[in-house]
Amino acid sequence: MAIKIDKHLFYINTKNSSLIIEERDGYLLLKHLGRKIESYHFSNTVFERDHAFSGNPRSNERSFSLDTQRQVLGQHGLGDFRQPSLQVQHANNEVTDFRFVESQLIKGGLEVPGLPSPHSTEDAETLAFILEDTVAHLRLTLYYTAFEDSNTIATFTKLENIGRETAVIHKNLSLMADLPAGTYDVISLQGAYAREKTVRRHKLEQGIFKIASNRGASGHTQTPSLILCDSETTEEAGQVWAIQLLYSGNFEAWIQQNQLNEVRLGIGINEDNFAWKLEARQTFYSPVALLNYSAQGLTGLSHESQAFVQEHIIPKAFAKRERPILINNWEATYFDFKKEKLLELADEAQKVGIELFVLDDGWFGNRFDDNRALGDWFVNEDKLGGSLTELISEVHSRGLQFGLWVEPEMISVDSQLYRAHPDWAIQAPDRDHTYSRNQLVLDYANPDVVAYIKETLDQLLSQHDIDYIKWDMNRNITNLGNGTNYLATKMQSHKYILGLYEIVKYLTEKYENILFESCSGGGGRNDLGMMRYFPQVWASDNTDAIARLPIQYGSSYLYPTISMGAHVSAVPNHQMGRITPLATRGHVAMMGNLGYELDLTSLSDEEKAAIADQVKLYKELRPVVQLGRQYRLINPDVGSNEAAVQFNYEDQTIVTYVRVLSVVETMETTLKLKDLEEEGLYELQGNGAVYSGAELMYAGITMNLPQGDYLSRQLHFIKK
Ligand code: DGJ
Repeated sequence: MAIKIDKHLFYINTKNSSLIIEERDGYLLLKHLGRKIESYHFSNTVFERDHAFSGNPRSNERSFSLDTQRQVLGQHGLGDFRQPSLQVQHANNEVTDFRFVESQLIKGGLEVPGLPSPHSTEDAETLAFILEDTVAHLRLTLYYTAFEDSNTIATFTKLENIGRETAVIHKNLSLMADLPAGTYDVISLQGAYAREKTVRRHKLEQGIFKIASNRGASGHTQTPSLILCDSETTEEAGQVWAIQLLYSGNFEAWIQQNQLNEVRLGIGINEDNFAWKLEARQTFYSPVALLNYSAQGLTGLSHESQAFVQEHIIPKAFAKRERPILINNWEATYFDFKKEKLLELADEAQKVGIELFVLDDGWFGNRFDDNRALGDWFVNEDKLGGSLTELISEVHSRGLQFGLWVEPEMISVDSQLYRAHPDWAIQAPDRDHTYSRNQLVLDYANPDVVAYIKETLDQLLSQHDIDYIKWDMNRNITNLGNGTNYLATKMQSHKYILGLYEIVKYLTEKYENILFESCSGGGGRNDLGMMRYFPQVWASDNTDAIARLPIQYGSSYLYPTISMGAHVSAVPNHQMGRITPLATRGHVAMMGNLGYELDLTSLSDEEKAAIADQVKLYKELRPVVQLGRQYRLINPDVGSNEAAVQFNYEDQTIVTYVRVLSVVETMETTLKLKDLEEEGLYELQGNGAVYSGAELMYAGITMNLPQGDYLSRQLHFIKK
């Protein structure tokens, strides 16, 4: 049993962790969050006294202050001066005093209405705490689902208006937890367009470290997650806590260290650009958050999170389904293509063993450049030299699957859709449009827009034999103001995301065998909300192999490799202008779901032969990379000259090592491999050398870089 209730103590346990909550006088006090404890005896209860200037809820008990108790709910206005997790306006104020009424034990995990929820499994159990505020006439339920085998706890909240008056939610986070004072570091995955998910680690200081998005999408610059660890924690050892949000819109995540050095974590919808009108009898659900704890360092956390995402977040049909090797025509042709060019590309792709042909932007309406036609999702038969059906069957007849690009959340002013429905663009009244890539965002908060896009895409998919869809989203939201009043506009951003989820849920359930890849100018919405519907992400528009190293490395902190597309592109690289050997471009892309994004027709026979070899090799390595366990060996942080990653799967091990700049007169790097069998014998493929696991782990293997390829080396071992 993952959940145990012992009088006023509630244990939410997984295989290796415990969250222990005590109910006292109606408040939910967090007694422990960390390594598993089967039985808690209050021995280490925090020293409770009347701290100076802290609020006490009762005059006769001066030792109990909400400001010094560790809790799971941060109420506003009652004397807990840390960051609140809940702030609701009712009558003339925002004070709430929710008190525990009862708990409920529920078998399995729950589906949150309208929002992405983890797949439930046999080992899952849910504890619901039901609380009420009898003055505000509101009922709050905090849900905790323990996924015992996966060491993960999922949380969300439900807020019900059980009174007669309208209330307004200003803040309702999905997860909050307090931890004791300590010496901690914070890790976040930060970045920008074309350099997403760079790992940043720094010391936690008194104050608030907050990351957030107010872009209408989770954004390139931050990932909706935060990691807290003991300052001595390393890859392999030490305590780590992680919070993550299954949400694709505006979020906030923060860690506060208060005046007593106590630590509070919170994650949920960003309070900026948000309010929610809760009328009598209405209910509001927060998105789901995930909580992980590992005592096995950052690798332990990554293994927990990667496995959870693969088993419980990614759509079931694709969780373990190996991904096809694709060719995408974007960097090969941009908008400048005709049917002949596409088929020449498909011919070359077929010859080198590629499995999926993806037609990117430019196939519809009057889309000759990125200034127009978004919203006009009808085929440009002139460009395609016939119907889409004909093109698809030409591609299929070559033994390739067919994929198509769409950007359904957008509208161009120069489009038939805009001419028919100018009011469907997100827009504050009486203001000029603000453009980004010369396009506007459709108002998915409007049910008419949602119905139209759902129907349009449904027709596209039902009338064509499409195997893969790349769903792009190339700008952030400005000019909010389609609501009929101020509060309606404050609700627009969250309603937009609910509209988006309605569409993608419908399409991915109806077309469950289509592989959807999410993209937002690369990784502008690389979050678990999208991943619940779209099993793969285009992690960055930056296709430069060297620039990709920190992006792929950062993604691995929380996300499984199988969720990440990685392409070999042309040199000089289109984003960085760098020239990198084809072998290294292949090595780096083979650390993800391999694809190609270059004009194969312009390559020499030698290059095409090398690509055919890469494709053949990747077909052998694919299960190791996509289904195996990953180990980070060298961090390719900005400024670092090296990177190394290892994958283990069944009897196979792959090690990829990259040295960015050649160094003269240096000792080659020795890599110590991870998690092999000491007595096992591992044969290096293509070479015949045999090493023991102990040798590879404790003495290590020297990464000599072969002549002619000074940048990288890939080793493939099979256990004998
Ligand atoms: C941005 C994407 O990230 C690119 O891969 C490509 O699909 C373009 N959009 C097309 O407009």
